[in-house]
Amino acid sequence: MASHILSFLFATAVLFPPSQSRTLFPFEQQQLTREHVASLPEEDALLFAFDGQFDEISEVNNTDKRCRYAPGDKKWPSTKALTKLRKQLSSADALIATVPLASVCYGTTKNDAQCQQLASNWTNAYTHIEDPTEILSPLYQGLTCQPPSIYDSGGCTLGGSPSYVIKAKTVSDIQTGVNFARNDYLRLVVKNTGHDFSGKSTGHGAFSIWTHGLKDIQYFDNYVDESGYKGPAIKAGAGVQAFELYKFANQRGVVAVAGEGQTVGVFGGYILGGGHSPLSPLYGLAADHVLGFELVTPFGEFVTANSSSNTELFWALRGGGGGTFGVVSSVTIRVYKDMPVAAASWSLSSAALGKEKFWAAVKAWFDLANTNADGGVYTYSTLVPKASDYTFTMQPLFAPNKSSTQLNSILAPYLSKLTSLNIPLSPEISSYNSFYPAWQAEFPPEPASAPDTIIASRLFPRANFATDDARNITFNVLRQSVENGTSLIAFNTATRGTNPDISVNPAFRTSVYHIIAATHISPLFPPTAIAAARNTFTNGTLASWRAITPNSGSYVNEADRLEPDWQRSFWGDRYERLVSVKKEVDPREAFWVSRGVGSEGWGVESVRGDGEDGRLCRVG
Ligand SMILES: Cc1cc2nc3c(=O)[nH]c(=O)nc-3n(C[C@H](O)[C@H](O)[C@H](O)COP(=O)(O)OP(=O)(O)OC[C@H]3O[C@@H](n4cnc5c(N)ncnc54)[C@H](O)[C@@H]3O)c2cc1C
Ligand SMILES: *[C@@H]1O[C@H](CO)[C@@H](O)[C@H](O)[C@H]1NC(C)=O
Ligand SMILES: *[C@@H]1O[C@H](CO)[C@@H](O)[C@H](O)[C@H]1NC(C)=O
Ligand SMILES: *[C@@H]1O[C@H](CO)[C@@H](O)[C@H](O)[C@H]1NC(C)=O
Ligand SMILES: *[C@@H]1O[C@H](CO)[C@@H](O)[C@H](O)[C@H]1NC(C)=O
Ligand SMILES: *[C@@H]1O[C@H](CO)[C@@H](O)[C@H](O)[C@H]1NC(C)=O
Ligand SMILES: *[C@@H]1O[C@H](CO)[C@@H](O)[C@H](O)[C@H]1NC(C)=O
Ligand SMILES: *[C@@H]1O[C@H](CO)[C@@H](O)[C@H](O)[C@H]1NC(C)=O
Repeated sequence: MASHILSFLFATAVLFPPSQSRTLFPFEQQQLTREHVASLPEEDALLFAFDGQFDEISEVNNTDKRCRYAPGDKKWPSTKALTKLRKQLSSADALIATVPLASVCYGTTKNDAQCQQLASNWTNAYTHIEDPTEILSPLYQGLTCQPPSIYDSGGCTLGGSPSYVIKAKTVSDIQTGVNFARNDYLRLVVKNTGHDFSGKSTGHGAFSIWTHGLKDIQYFDNYVDESGYKGPAIKAGAGVQAFELYKFANQRGVVAVAGEGQTVGVFGGYILGGGHSPLSPLYGLAADHVLGFELVTPFGEFVTANSSSNTELFWALRGGGGGTFGVVSSVTIRVYKDMPVAAASWSLSSAALGKEKFWAAVKAWFDLANTNADGGVYTYSTLVPKASDYTFTMQPLFAPNKSSTQLNSILAPYLSKLTSLNIPLSPEISSYNSFYPAWQAEFPPEPASAPDTIIASRLFPRANFATDDARNITFNVLRQSVENGTSLIAFNTATRGTNPDISVNPAFRTSVYHIIAATHISPLFPPTAIAAARNTFTNGTLASWRAITPNSGSYVNEADRLEPDWQRSFWGDRYERLVSVKKEVDPREAFWVSRGVGSEGWGVESVRGDGEDGRLCRVG
């Protein structure tokens, strides 16, 4: 009888799941309060006060201080102040003084066995992600402490690495770090995984907030909020990565819109910059699906930004970029029912086909850009020059919610064109009854960037593939770029999205291709030769891309650190409104990233010329 009642209750619960709404994670319930700060001895209170809490702090509003304080300055935090900081944090080990991984390769800390081991793991992204300060595009750190077999740094210095890291375990840790850095006029940066391609998760002399440990995650099968949304949702801590999110969602029969790369930090830089996804053909960008953010603002306050609270900030956080508007502690997103997936992969090379046939086969593929985008695919394809041999690799073409039969009909026009060109090709086709195993099988882990890699990107609108003439012009520029030594990663997908009014680059909405260009410049070159090589890339190769996509732009998360006219390029007509949000939430400019919203007044006085290895100072 008793068990009968229980099973009846259980069935009821399944049929009518209770509605659920947002809660704070335990780590978010540990907050710094004004009352706590006010209860501290005055000297300590001034270190940790919220913006505007005490008049004495307005001293920092002093525009004649040209640069943020850096190590060696008289006003650099004393040992005593650092001890006070450590005591305010949730645990003594939450304050970490930076030790570059490759310090085991140099000087008095040299250990050959450890250095060799490190070098053998250096291209493994996890080596850098798990470290408080290492980043995946080390060029912008200044290459001041790489294993010698990778790049001989000639010694080990901090360069563009931060001085101290606050390993955030609670929201109070984040607030304490933000207030301390802002009140003391220090450089503040945020690192999650370190994937940023432009060095935006590092900075010389900085205090860094490291969000990687914030791994809480919660599922709501029937989330309800005031905006009218009713349905499944996931709330995730800022440190949750793609591989963790996808696995968690899979166990609950749902899918989340997140990136292809397994190690990317979904709820930090990725979603704040927009976020393209293998699910983009169905659901647009990751930022389209956000229901709310919890964050620590530049004033040190812990707030919610959603469709009814802090609505301008909510708008700005969905595409305006990381490291600019505060430190996000968690994000709540809509999620969707699981689905089947079909995928294809193939490869072509000029060595096998001969040069002209190879390019004809590649052109035939790009000619179908609009048809394929409308067909519902997301592609990860590469075009790589090696000596005078070129390869095109499709790995994979990902077709969410499609069967292999449907995928075959998407591929049919291409294969029949190849047949008419007398080029044999049989793509490898796979099908999966669920998203997670498809994503696992189709997107292998990606390595950290080599120390000499630089990238840029461009969104190619539908118009570039709409006429025979436009297709020829577009293809010829891409072909010439590859023949000039540039490698491409080309994502063919329509990121139209479901949410027109967010701050993400509007150029996404009309594009059918997001193409990354990558090239290598030898870091051994003298600085003038490096500058010349960068000029050829940015003002040569990429200028020819911009010339044929005049009203489009570039994706801020996969961009050239030296992007010209970056305000327009990354944000189009959203830029002015983004700047006004930035001015309101961060009048002291405590948060700064290179080519981020509102970053115009400052620049890094870089030793190498274009990285984070120098002081952050006002310009002009
Ligand atoms: C291997 C690889 C695969 C990728 N795949 C994809 C993909 O499939 N789709 C796609 O759209 N992009 C992709 N990217 C680009 C990716 O979106 C960016 O590198 C993104 O910035 C990563 O965010 P992160 O938080 O992991 O990295 P980080 O480098 O740690 O941070 C990036 C930026 O966001 C800021 N930030 C981080 N966390 C927070 C926070 N909690 N609050 C406020 N600011 C924060 C940092 O200060 C920094 O400015 C890929 C990159 C790599 C290297
Ligand atoms: C580094 O490499 C060693 C052996 O090559 C391996 O045992 C270890 O797990 C690797 N560590 C990482 C972080 O990849
Ligand atoms: C937004 O957040 C506030 C504060 O937490 C909450 O009261 C409100 O219900 C949320 N609104 C929506 C639409 O979720
Ligand atoms: C997935 O395909 C099914 C069957 O074709 C369709 O009913 C459903 O709407 C599709 N889902 C999405 C998100 O497009
Ligand atoms: C486009 O290029 C093809 C060769 O690839 C050529 O046959 C065709 O005439 C060109 N079309 C235009 C409009 O130039
Ligand atoms: C590109 O050209 C502009 C204008 O001459 C120049 O200011 C800029 O520094 C150049 N960019 C690079 C990367 O060399
Ligand atoms: C390729 O290189 C040539 C010769 O330097 C240059 O004229 C041309 O503009 C370059 N094209 C592209 C697309 O990079
Ligand atoms: C500095 O103070 C002036 C005058 O009090 C004020 O107008 C300005 O907005 C402040 N600037 C910052 C960055 O806080």
